[in-house]
Amino acid sequence: MSNMIAPSILNADFLHLADVLEMLNESEAELIHLDIMDGRFVPNLTFGFPIIKQIKSAARLPLDVHLMIVEPDKYLKEFRDAGADILTVHYEACENLHKTIEQIKELGMKPSVSVKPQTEVSVLEPYLKSLDMVLIMSVNPGYGGQKFMEDSYERIRELKKMINAAGSDTLIQVDGGVSLDNIKQLSEAGVDVFVVGSAIFRADDPKEMIRMLKGSQ
Ligand code: DX5
Ligand code: ZN
Repeated sequence: MSNMIAPSILNADFLHLADVLEMLNESEAELIHLDIMDGRFVPNLTFGFPIIKQIKSAARLPLDVHLMIVEPDKYLKEFRDAGADILTVHYEACENLHKTIEQIKELGMKPSVSVKPQTEVSVLEPYLKSLDMVLIMSVNPGYGGQKFMEDSYERIRELKKMINAAGSDTLIQVDGGVSLDNIKQLSEAGVDVFVVGSAIFRADDPKEMIRMLKGSQ
């Protein structure tokens, strides 16, 4: 199986977003990754519902929405209505994660949970069977273009073991500093879905870069 690629448009050219989305529609990517930041869970701010809705209207790929916000429960329905297909909440932002996961499912979205680099992956064990995906942050969330944290490999291997032991088919997604330099090693460690921002949008030919990232297993 080739790598699944979820381009993050965080650092794409928002003045030409329609062209970016058309390029992604025609590319070999599987998902479009949207980073939602609130200036509280992370220091940065990004975009909200009106922009997600517009992206949805032009995207032919499922929207993979990564919430870096406090109190995500307040907005689950609005993210569904805006067009989220996969909804990722942060473990650190949820008070009752079982309940949040159930609500995401009831709303018809696929639930995913992310952990920051400082959070032990073992905290996810009780949730694995009810999750479609787990997102391992390989940078501190908040900004694109950061350096990949090398200890992520060990965290991914540990998570992969937990998923196998639980007999679940939860996908492992990695986000932050992914490029042609590390995608093969990440795949070998157990990653299924790769969020890639700057390596795609800084490339001369982003569509060709997606093709190369997919094949480099
Ligand atoms: C960071 C975001 C990422 C970011 C990845 O907080 O969650 O999705 O856009 O960008 P790169 O690939 O440049 O690290
Ligand atoms: Zn992200």
